[in-house]
Amino acid sequence: MQTVTEIQALRAAVRGWKAGGQTVGLVPTMGNLHEGHYALLRLARERCDRVVASVFVNPTQFGPDEDFERYPRTLASDQAGLADHGCDLLFTPGVDLMYPYGPAQTVRVQVPQLTRVLEGAHRPGHFDGVATVVCKLLNLVQPDLAVFGQKDFQQVRVIERLVLDLGIPVRMLAAPIVREPDGLALSSRNQYLSADERRRAPGIHQTLLWMRDAMEAGGTPASVERSARKRLKGMGFQPDYAVVRRSADLSVPERGEREGLVALVAARLGDTRLIDNLQLD
Ligand code: PAJ
Repeated sequence: MQTVTEIQALRAAVRGWKAGGQTVGLVPTMGNLHEGHYALLRLARERCDRVVASVFVNPTQFGPDEDFERYPRTLASDQAGLADHGCDLLFTPGVDLMYPYGPAQTVRVQVPQLTRVLEGAHRPGHFDGVATVVCKLLNLVQPDLAVFGQKDFQQVRVIERLVLDLGIPVRMLAAPIVREPDGLALSSRNQYLSADERRRAPGIHQTLLWMRDAMEAGGTPASVERSARKRLKGMGFQPDYAVVRRSADLSVPERGEREGLVALVAARLGDTRLIDNLQLD
């Protein structure tokens, strides 16, 4: 596996593959890789001749009080893991390369509406940073396929919209959530949890399963959401939201609507903010 930090080397490698008629898949990440990331890599591997992964802790998607500085940076083990999982090229740019005029002065891509709710409401500016950096990565790598995880359900919708609206020539693939045996969705932020918090953390997944059952039993979204928040609080979480939305655009469903729904939860456990979701059909 080749590791490159410069645009020229990246472009030369991708150009060479494409000239030989090979297809290229991209898996964008912020590093500190785990089985959730490697599952995306496997999917890209199955579908493309060549796989590029990017590792870049993107400053523009972190709020001023968020964990940009302490976000775990583990490049050496990420490199080893990527090589083991059949990655052909790791692109790991510096901040100066991604933001030549500095993060504050960058041209920004903004996806309307979708980014105002849920994660966007609780993390103002977050999705502008995500959309901007993903747009840049897609332009730099120019892959045939880009793979993202459904763990970040709203992020997938935002990026799909970005790709469609700007006419970016890439296919999108959203991969299922990889979980620990106890149901906790794998996340780089899980390592912030104390032993006691880690024991409680699967409560989010349990709440999502409960929300699914409650909707199947005929509950209304509003009543299910109210009870879900109560359950989360009872388990020691501080919920930001626990909602049932339309999968297509995250809008609020009608009372009797049952098709194409997703339950989404974001909740804090101590200082750690966890998100998860479950498609209800
Ligand atoms: P990061 O949190 O590193 O995640 C990279 C990719 O891995 C995302 O598409 C995410 O949804 C996926 N992923 C993480 N945990 C997963 C799990 N348990 N199961 C399945 N997929 C999982 O998401 C980002 O980075 C950034 O916002 C990025 C898109 C790279 C832009 O900076």
